[in-house]
Amino acid sequence: MPSELPTQRRNRRVRLRRLRPEDRPLLQEFLAQIDSYDLQMRFFAALRSVPPALLDFLMQVDCEQRMVLVAIDDRSHGQAPILALAHAHAHPRGETAEIALLVRSDLKGIGFGSLLLDRLIRDCRNHGVARLEADVLRQNARMLRLARKYGFRKHAAEGGTVRLALELTSAAA
Ligand SMILES: CC(C)(COP(=O)(O)OP(=O)(O)OC[C@H]1O[C@@H](n2cnc3c(N)ncnc32)[C@H](O)[C@@H]1OP(=O)(O)O)[C@@H](O)C(=O)NCCC(=O)NCCS
Repeated sequence: MPSELPTQRRNRRVRLRRLRPEDRPLLQEFLAQIDSYDLQMRFFAALRSVPPALLDFLMQVDCEQRMVLVAIDDRSHGQAPILALAHAHAHPRGETAEIALLVRSDLKGIGFGSLLLDRLIRDCRNHGVARLEADVLRQNARMLRLARKYGFRKHAAEGGTVRLALELTSAAA
């Protein structure tokens, strides 16, 4: 399966794969390493830590409409192996999916977001998703630049949030 292939990133052997139900403790460990600024950028709320209900929400992997990818450190020997996380949640008719990314706070800016977004775009396209959307806080320069790099365009803006969209149809791809 292509998403199981390891790749090299800054001397780490990184494997991208789907989040699994048994990953819950690993996800909890990952989330404990996200600082409050990054939690705000991801969840649009002032959080010091991730409450159990939000962890439950992030762990929903058995539903048809959700694709959750994790970047795993292949050589972590079981210690804090999740490096980054990406969610795609398809709308009921399945043509549009909302995406969101989260990279471990101490690992931002070295390509994990790009790695996950690239894979998420390809996987969603392969699943017949026609359009990706992402709501991003206006001040989130990193995410805005990352999304633009992959072709997302500003679709709408409301309050402090910008809605970005990427068409995955073959003509736009
Ligand atoms: C936003 C986020 C997912 C980006 O992932 P990342 O691994 O940090 O980003 P990458 O290293 O792949 O960099 C991607 C692009 O971001 C931009 N970028 C990187 N560092 C940046 C910085 N300090 N300031 C502004 N833009 C920056 C660059 O355009 C870069 O592309 P380049 O490498 O071709 O120059 C990550 O920083 C994160 O998890 N932030 C907190 C949560 C969040 O904001 N989630 C998004 C909600 S949708």
